[in-house]
Amino acid sequence: MTSTQTSRLPGFYKLTIDERLERAAAVAGLDAKTKAAFERLGGLEADQADHMAENVIGVFGLPLGVATNFIINDREILVPMAIEEPSVIAGASFMAKLAREGGGFHAETTEPLMIGQIQIMDIPDLEAAKTKILEHRDEILTEADRVDPMILSLGGGARDLEIRILKETPAGPMLIVHLIFDTRDAMGANVINTAAERLSPMLESLSQGRVHLKILSNLADRRLAKVTCTIPAAALAFETFSGPSVRDGIVEAWAFAEADPYRAATHNKGIMNGVDAVVIATGNDWRAVEAGAHAYAARSGRYTSLSKWGADEAGDLEGFLELPLAVGTVGGATRVHPLAKACLALMGVENARELAQVIAAVGLAQNLAALRALASEGIQRGHMSLHARQIAIAAGAEGDQIDRIAAKMIAQGTIHIKHARELVDQDHHQS
Ligand code: MEV
Repeated sequence: MTSTQTSRLPGFYKLTIDERLERAAAVAGLDAKTKAAFERLGGLEADQADHMAENVIGVFGLPLGVATNFIINDREILVPMAIEEPSVIAGASFMAKLAREGGGFHAETTEPLMIGQIQIMDIPDLEAAKTKILEHRDEILTEADRVDPMILSLGGGARDLEIRILKETPAGPMLIVHLIFDTRDAMGANVINTAAERLSPMLESLSQGRVHLKILSNLADRRLAKVTCTIPAAALAFETFSGPSVRDGIVEAWAFAEADPYRAATHNKGIMNGVDAVVIATGNDWRAVEAGAHAYAARSGRYTSLSKWGADEAGDLEGFLELPLAVGTVGGATRVHPLAKACLALMGVENARELAQVIAAVGLAQNLAALRALASEGIQRGHMSLHARQIAIAAGAEGDQIDRIAAKMIAQGTIHIKHARELVDQDHHQS
């Protein structure tokens, strides 16, 4: 997106699908081919799908929307989100609008370091094996570097070794080698797994043990994204709720998640609503990201909130989120899936770290949307209007009629398909 463009697109939601695409493509400066990827529903032909997975009999579609209003590290950005749940995209866009008033989101990432694990069993002397492996650290890293000259030429490669001894497991003691590898803009599963396999003979001979598993860890706690935002208290006010009361309500809601795993699971699920939607839209592995996020939330030994909310000295609301984000902009489906490629182009992200920053910002916005609603009007009201629209559509409403019928059902307090059909009939007679 050029610096003169804005992600603030008032009334975007009122446009038709074609008009929205036109507008988003113009804002993001998409070329005709990239734009066309969005026009092909699902974005994936059967033969492309057939090359991605086995026994393919079709392609499964999801709504792909655009979250507006985001400013991340001073850059205006339109964020593609693939998700079937109502209110998520609207919630993210609305919170991004509030965050604009405090300068938007500020995000950073660590280097893209992934961890490969090599499990070694039947070692005669664990401590001696550890010392021996560490003595040969440089040789081992050089061997790991041989697996992907391309990543090496881009500045990535093996960075470090860590040794963990697990003395008491159900299968007895074992030594675990962590290979820390910079995978640059790739998610890195392939390179890590290949490197871990390649090191096996060397590690067996050094440890005098037997290498068993060789696989990456999804607890990618060396590949973190962090994001903050400040929402002026005044921006939180709405209807009868004052800004400070909404702010305090949000902090109390967060404190609940901080202290209680039952609440933390739901709180973090709200964050992942935003995170996964962008991860999916960009063709990344959302199961990997989910696994990493929840494991990270339990890193202290007690599962807790991934985010933090508090008031700053000026009385404004401050949000913070940190989570592992193993996502790539090259390799895997990110380049094979035409729509994933187009979604990356829509955001104009240059590399995996920028993508992780956007994803973290959307996660924090989504968390705020849920907490703000829960701490004030409750989430059902927002859900109800979308629910009512869906019921109206199911009852045959079209165009303007959808909003008219939905509004009537909400006003009458009866959101039901039978009632919606009656209203559609009446509407036809009146027009
Ligand atoms: C629903 O998908 C997500 C929420 O439950 C998150 C939360 O409770 O914080 C609304």
